[in-house]
Amino acid sequence: MAVLDILVYPDPRLKQVSKPVEHFDGGLHAFIRDLEETMRAGPGGVGIAAPQVGRFERIIIVDVSGKPKIKHHGRLILVNPEIISKEGSAVGREGCLSVPDYTGNVARAKFIILKAQDEFGKPLEFHMERYEARAVQHEMDHLEGLLFLDHLVSRRDLFRRQTQEAISSKAKIP
Ligand code: NI
Repeated sequence: MAVLDILVYPDPRLKQVSKPVEHFDGGLHAFIRDLEETMRAGPGGVGIAAPQVGRFERIIIVDVSGKPKIKHHGRLILVNPEIISKEGSAVGREGCLSVPDYTGNVARAKFIILKAQDEFGKPLEFHMERYEARAVQHEMDHLEGLLFLDHLVSRRDLFRRQTQEAISSKAKIP
């Protein structure tokens, strides 16, 4: 297992669109283990997408189970994820391992129905809401080459992290 290097804005590779996963093999499983370790090593640690470590394939990991009092589905490895319906809209604050010095207010659908495959190619479907749905939408954006910065309506939606927080988040990113 290894903590992988994270691409940081404005690295142009973050704009690359990722390709579907076709081979659910040992190489994929080893990569997913490293991707999860990288997510858990970072500040926040609730989600990560493969392109953030330079692998341009449609793989995300989301685990919001550490947040109190929210509905969630636990630790999710989501391969080739697809949102098949969305409903409602809410604004919430987001951060990103690839944008370590800022957070931003972003509007996202409140409810989604998500289809994906697990790491063995087995089909999955989830009804998600609020924080978990937001995390999935954020990570899926990375697969399209988008960051939360691309959703900000104005500069007033962008916030610099507290000095302490920015220093600690930088320290954890190799
Ligand atoms: Ni992100």
